[in-house]
Amino acid sequence: MQESGYLNLEHLTDAIATANGFAGRLAHEHFRVDVITENLLRMKISRGGTFDENPSFALVVDPLTHNGFQSQDRAFNLEIGADSVRLTTASLVLTVNTDKFGFDLRRIDGSRVFASGECGYRILNNDWRISRGAARGDAIYGLGEKTGKQNRRGRDFHLWNTDVLNPNAAGEFTKAHPETHPRADSTSTEFDPYYVSIPFFYQQDEVTGAVGGSFIDNGYRGFYNFTAADSYEIAFGGGQYTEYLFGGPDFASILADYTALTGRAQLPPIWALGYHQCRWHDYSQQDVLDLAKRHRELDLPLDTLWLDIDYMDGYRVFTWNHDRFPDVPAMLRQLDEQGIRVITIIDPGVKFDPGYEVFDAGLEREVFCLTEGGDIYIGQVWPGNTAFPDFAKPETRKWWGELNAQHVASGIAGIWNDMNEPATGGISEKPMRFGAGAYSHEKYHNQYALLMAMGTAEGLLAARPELRTFILSRAGSPGIQRYAANWLGDNMSRWDHLWLQIPMATGLSLSGQSFVGADIGGFAENSNPELFARWMQAGLLTPFARNHNQTNQLDQYAFAWGQEVLDIAREAIKLRYRLMPYLYSAFVENSLTGAPIQRPLVYQYQHDAEVWEVDDQYLLGGDLLVAPILEAGKTSRSVYLPAGEWVDWHSGDSIESRGERITVEAPLTRIPIFARAGAAIALWSEVPVSTAGYYPEEIAVLVALPIRDGSHTSVLVEDDGLTFEALAEKKLTTQFTVTRSGGTVALRGVSQGLGFKEFNRKRLRIRLIGLGDLALQERVVENTGEDFEAVFNL
Ligand code: GLC
Repeated sequence: MQESGYLNLEHLTDAIATANGFAGRLAHEHFRVDVITENLLRMKISRGGTFDENPSFALVVDPLTHNGFQSQDRAFNLEIGADSVRLTTASLVLTVNTDKFGFDLRRIDGSRVFASGECGYRILNNDWRISRGAARGDAIYGLGEKTGKQNRRGRDFHLWNTDVLNPNAAGEFTKAHPETHPRADSTSTEFDPYYVSIPFFYQQDEVTGAVGGSFIDNGYRGFYNFTAADSYEIAFGGGQYTEYLFGGPDFASILADYTALTGRAQLPPIWALGYHQCRWHDYSQQDVLDLAKRHRELDLPLDTLWLDIDYMDGYRVFTWNHDRFPDVPAMLRQLDEQGIRVITIIDPGVKFDPGYEVFDAGLEREVFCLTEGGDIYIGQVWPGNTAFPDFAKPETRKWWGELNAQHVASGIAGIWNDMNEPATGGISEKPMRFGAGAYSHEKYHNQYALLMAMGTAEGLLAARPELRTFILSRAGSPGIQRYAANWLGDNMSRWDHLWLQIPMATGLSLSGQSFVGADIGGFAENSNPELFARWMQAGLLTPFARNHNQTNQLDQYAFAWGQEVLDIAREAIKLRYRLMPYLYSAFVENSLTGAPIQRPLVYQYQHDAEVWEVDDQYLLGGDLLVAPILEAGKTSRSVYLPAGEWVDWHSGDSIESRGERITVEAPLTRIPIFARAGAAIALWSEVPVSTAGYYPEEIAVLVALPIRDGSHTSVLVEDDGLTFEALAEKKLTTQFTVTRSGGTVALRGVSQGLGFKEFNRKRLRIRLIGLGDLALQERVVENTGEDFEAVFNL
């Protein structure tokens, strides 16, 4: 982006009230403020005198009429003065200066949400930029998939979906730094940008701890610079200024409103929460069957096996290499009998190959991206020269959907979308235009993966209308959570990348995309037994748990590292399957409210300044705190326990914390985990080899003993795990309330919902843990979904 030569549009004139707020003139442009709710405002500036009312594919609702926000109160009061315009809602006060255009947004109690900096609004050709004030100690979170620590303050970030390990794509960004700078190396844990771009962030006030949120609805290349001490700058390389301002003051309400705007994640099928085994490798049909068998022989639960690019015929998407896979339906059937599903990779790049059906059809239907001159744009991916579907056109998405529908017809369970930044290898992406050549590459680059996922989801739904879909995507932009999970791209088998997955995943989950996880064991370079063991322990306690490895690296299967590591890996997988009811319920909550699954501590303890910088532990769901070992040779670590009562998962020790650090032992066989006292954590008593067809007779409920009197609630949702029917009424939602009163602890369960036909629960095995005892008391309650109460006398 240009640094100098900008025009400053600094005088606001002709302010008038509108039905939704107010409007005015900003030099030759229009400025507009819309009240979406009392706690959510939108500001817009036109370009060329016209507002773009649909700047991107991010939104799923018309904000002005949608009633799913935290508040429905849209009332406001307006005072138009000579120096300023003041708009007041039940929660916010917005003051816009007329002389030097800028604004100040406060809550009704006077606390600051945002204050614009000196420069107002500046433009230069396609670019526009704004600046904001910030106190020295304010923290910044969000912005989607970013490297480094969760507090983004002190760094600058590009939003430009990038194929990180491709020197051609990453080169522009590595070369901007001196050779010794961490960002000069795209494999470092500081490199920027990454695969997913989300222009949504939170600013946390250093004094009050309150957070405000900003979402800029713009798909062009963005730049956020938080390096200055008292301000920060936001710039975009095109499109218009459309900003949603969220009053907060807490993360949950902002995220709920942000995901009301951009859409919530569809609840995934339960098998997508299982253990996934993937590898870039030249498998044959028999190899795949052998791999399944091996997992079963070694008692390693497994829900899916993945096929990377080598299953195809010469990397032609939607084909099979029939020499290596002579009978795909038979293979799928045999795997299905073992409860194992198959997911295949589909890249967007279609081999430029006249005579190849998909290429010919794309040509004929005119659905490929063109250059300015009207030629088919050519990039380079695995098959060599490739054409790229123009997903900005609905007919392309439809065509792509049909191809996917045919592809999965034989029983493929889900689709893995890769190289969708889009990655174009050694060839510049710039000449790739959209809309039959009418639109620049920049307009849709960051949205390419979202559009591809839209088309893919359309196809999967058409093929199997009753089943929830599963798509995994590498790239993404706001709204990607509606269609796909994201993995964290091509990471390295290095300890610092094991650490990186924590702030990267929590940054994404604060940005609306919770279904994320890193390649377990690390993708590039070779893992080693200790790193792999630690990665399994940590990775199996993240939302998406997939072991994946680059081609030509050492085997990285759970069984590849000797008996000790195999046992650790099995334990890690089994712990995840035991936790499945708890984890699944966290996914349900995410789909209903946007609440993160892998949560940074700051989400829940925002007024504890100590956690603003805690990047090496997180909460999984609302009630478990996970603190993985992230360094070689370590068998203990320091864990910060926010104020409250906790129960050590492994020893049952009760810990009352005033917000302090403790040192915990973590031999290679153990990952530190703590349960919030008062939580009722639902588990599968027995561990199945796969989620397929598993509807247990017994659910275990671990009640973490509260020390002090009080109540705490947790929710368990059970359904068939597969269909859309279950999302409506055919499920059972049980609210657990744990109440301590003197010497008694009571667990009460209240259920609602119609249940579902596979429901098979006959009893609950309730176990009280705490005071150093993992089975302080146990009760077995016959229960098929009725309300109940179990009382423990201490
Ligand atoms: C990309 C993907 C990786 C995959 C490889 C081959 O590097 O990120 O996961 O294995 O391509 O398809």
